[in-house]
Parts: sequence; C-alpha cells; structure tokens
Amino acid sequence: MSTTTGHTGAAEPATIVIFGGAGDLSHRKLLPALYNLFLDGALPANSAVVGVGRKELSDDQFREFARSGVERFSRRPIDQEVWTRFAGSLFFSNVAIDQQNGLATLGSRLDVIEHERGLTGNRLYYLAIPPPLFVPTVQQLARARFIGPPDRLPFSRLIIEKPIGRDLASAMAINDALGAVFDESQIFRIDHYLGKETVQNILVLRFANSFFEPMFNQRYIDHVQITVAEEEGVGTRAGYYDQSGALRDMIQNHLLQLLTLVAMEPPHSLDADVIRDEKLEVLRSLRPLTSASVDACVVRAQYAAGTHDGKELPGYGDETGVAAGSRTETFVALNVFIDNWRWAGVPFFLRTGKRLPARSSEITIQLKDVPPILFNTGKTLEPNVLTIRLQPDEGFSLGISSKVPGPQVVVHPVPMDFDYGDFFKMTSPEAYERLLFDVMAGDATLFMRRDSVEASWRWLTPVLERWAELANTPLPTYGPGEWGPAEATALIEGTGRRWRTL
Ligand code: BG6
Repeated sequence: MSTTTGHTGAAEPATIVIFGGAGDLSHRKLLPALYNLFLDGALPANSAVVGVGRKELSDDQFREFARSGVERFSRRPIDQEVWTRFAGSLFFSNVAIDQQNGLATLGSRLDVIEHERGLTGNRLYYLAIPPPLFVPTVQQLARARFIGPPDRLPFSRLIIEKPIGRDLASAMAINDALGAVFDESQIFRIDHYLGKETVQNILVLRFANSFFEPMFNQRYIDHVQITVAEEEGVGTRAGYYDQSGALRDMIQNHLLQLLTLVAMEPPHSLDADVIRDEKLEVLRSLRPLTSASVDACVVRAQYAAGTHDGKELPGYGDETGVAAGSRTETFVALNVFIDNWRWAGVPFFLRTGKRLPARSSEITIQLKDVPPILFNTGKTLEPNVLTIRLQPDEGFSLGISSKVPGPQVVVHPVPMDFDYGDFFKMTSPEAYERLLFDVMAGDATLFMRRDSVEASWRWLTPVLERWAELANTPLPTYGPGEWGPAEATALIEGTGRRWRTL
C-alpha cells in the first residue's frame, strides 16, 4: 500500500506568462513539461500559456515552435487529440520588455485571453530570460500594475531561474529588487535539481525508513561523497558559462542543495518553511572557509584538449565563445565539514565538472569500517555504502558484505539494488513538470528561499576572494574523460579515502 503525504494540493487555473517564451529553455523544458502536465490532467484545462518575447510570432507559429519542442524533448510522444486541445491554450505576444510601456499591449492581450477562457486572473510570471533582464522586467511588471497583493486572489507569482547573482552582493541586490515588488511568498526560485524524483526521494529514504535515519551521523558515517558529473563540454553556452564557472554554476546551488538534503535534521512537518529552515541550518553550520582552507580543501581545474571515445575534443579555451586565456574552471572538488553535533568530523567531498568520463550523478554515504575482529582481519572488508543514484539509472543500492557459498568463510561485497524504472515501470516526470505544478499549487518546498541563496553565496565568498587573489597562478587541467585533475585525487586520498568509481 502506498501512502500519500506532503502537499496534495491541486494546480489552480492560471495564466502562465513565459518571458523568453520563444527561447531555448521554453523550447526544451517548459513547453514539454506543460504538455506532460496537460496530458496527465494536472494542468487545469482552461489554463493559458502565453509566450512573450521580441520575436514576431503569431499564435500559430508559437504553437508550431511548442510542438517541435515537445516532439524533440518530451519524455512521452505527442498524442494528437491531447495536443490539439493543449495547442488551443498557447498564445504569443510580441513585447520588448525593456521599452517603457512595453507591457501595455501584453496587459490587454492577457485580459482578453483570460476573459475568453474563464480565468480569474491568477498569473505566473516565468522569467526565462537572461539575468540582466530580471530586475528591469520585474520593475516593468510593477509599473504596469501586473502584480496583486500576496495574500489575496487572484494570485501573482514569480518564477526565476538561477543564476541569482554572481556573488553575495549581486545576489542581494537582485533579491532586494525582487523584494521591492513581490512578497517572498510570491517568489519561486528554481533549482531544477530539487525537482528531480531521486532528489525528492532523499528525504523519503531518510525519514520514512528506520534503517537509515539512526545511522546518519558521525557515530556511523565515515564520509559522504556527492558527485555531479557531465560528459558534455560547455557546448553552446560559453557566453554564460565563461562568466560563471563550475563553482557558481553548480556548487553554489545544485550541490549545496543536495548536501542540505543529506545532512539536515528531521523537520517536524512537511511544511515548506519548516523544511527550508532545516536546510538553511545546514548551510549555516558549514565550517567557514579561510584563504588557507580554500588552498587546502578546494580544487579547481579546466578541461584540456584530447581524445575521448575515439573523438578529438577541443580544450575549454578553444571552445566557441570562450574568451582568450579564460581561467574559468570547468571542474571543482571540495572537502567540507558541517560543524554540528550530528556531523562533527565527518568529511563531505563534493565534485562536479564538465567533460568527465560519463553523465553520472551520485551521492554515496560510506559507513565506518567494522572493527578489525572476526571477519575484518587480514584482508580488510569493503565498507558498507549507501549509494543514491540521481541520474542516469535512477535508484539506490546498499553495498553490504555476505558470505560466499561454500565450506570456507569467504566474505564478499554484494549490492542490494533498487532501480526506479524496473520497479515502478514508468518514466519519472521531468523536474520542470513537478516544479511548474508546485508553483500553480502554491507549494514552495522545492524552491530556494532568499536566505538560503544568500547563505550559499556567503559561505563561498572566501573561495571567490582567494581565487581572485590567485589570478596569475596556473590552473590545473584534466583531459577529456578523466575524473578531474591529479589535485582532486590528492584532495581525498590525503585523508586516506578514495573517490568512488562511477
Ligand atoms: C544547469 C547548469 O543548472 O545544470 C548546466 O547551468 C548543467 O551547466 C546543468 O549542465 C545540469 O543539469 P542536469 O539536469 O542535466 O544534470
């Protein structure tokens, strides 16, 4: 029997206004996610999706654009009958947001659409636009009186994507500007990792199983590893990435969020703010970094040219759009500590990078060795490990020791494996499906609160400062298909441990 807990709210009928509606994020992720929600009956039938952008697209052209996105990127194929109904809810409005009164035409268009579809004026404003446009757009929304008060219907909600700033000061400036227009309860900051099924399952695994929670502490855990590896290089995103790098792009948000889920205390309820308070507490308990500890505990590197899988691949510096002599890191590994009673002295190793051997993301929780008596003498036993596979091959496994059948006592490590696809016989919803649904249902649990975004930046500030001081020291490199530079191996092996093989 399965049990439903947590929010079971329904998505409210609303108009989803996507600024940057004809852009890449909309094409690859948002429109396919909305189609899948519609297919499941989770998107109220009279909802409207209005793409907004500079392009001169008719509604029909936007529907064609959406269709090509769904055909290429949806996890399920198009059902013609469902598509026809869904396409009828798609509209496009050509607006230059950076022009005074740019929103006037949009306003009257939305009024007509809402009237025709029997909508009451609930609106989601999704900013799928470059970060420099976040603040001007929000200010335009306020000037054009698009935003209602937080505690009254119809609702107005804002969805924004990372990056929220490139350091603490710029993140605070953005948050201040958003906060001048929206109440915090109306702002939904997306970290798409939090929408992944396997990431949501971390809390279930920890708090719905009496196996695990009692051992999640310094008494039993030797160390934790969190790896988010990508096989691809920077691809077509150098314009953004070269200004950002792996620390800002992945560690500040995705990896630190994963860390908070693994390390947080049990919340007393599933209320969004109770969970987010507990996660924030972890960020606040991270051992502060100093320039000396940055040198000792943080490794960065850039991928070099080389051959992988028989293919010649360019180095990062030769990728299209990367500035000459760029020192942007494409790999980061850190050894961090959480200075609270639960985790005192337990190292957490985080690593992420592009052009690594495979697209593979895992969290491993390694238990302490069994005492060197009975079976753990002579040849050392493999430690017990809980591995949570985030992607691909979503699932988890327990590495335990077992006796090999036969007259002698030979102990061998065996995996106990759970695979989502095999067990539940379904494809997991994409992160954006869950996240868009939650915004419509008003559930902020999986979104980043202002204080948590700023706590992450605050903790990383010494790294950014130290790296700025070291602007002239050579950056370590690694070849395509390698697990980062030798320095990353030394980081963990210096503590007597090893990176897990993925
Ligand atoms: C994004 C980063 O947030 O996450 C990208 O900006 C990265 O650089 C991507 O490639 C990885 O996401 P996923 O879901 O493919 O693991």
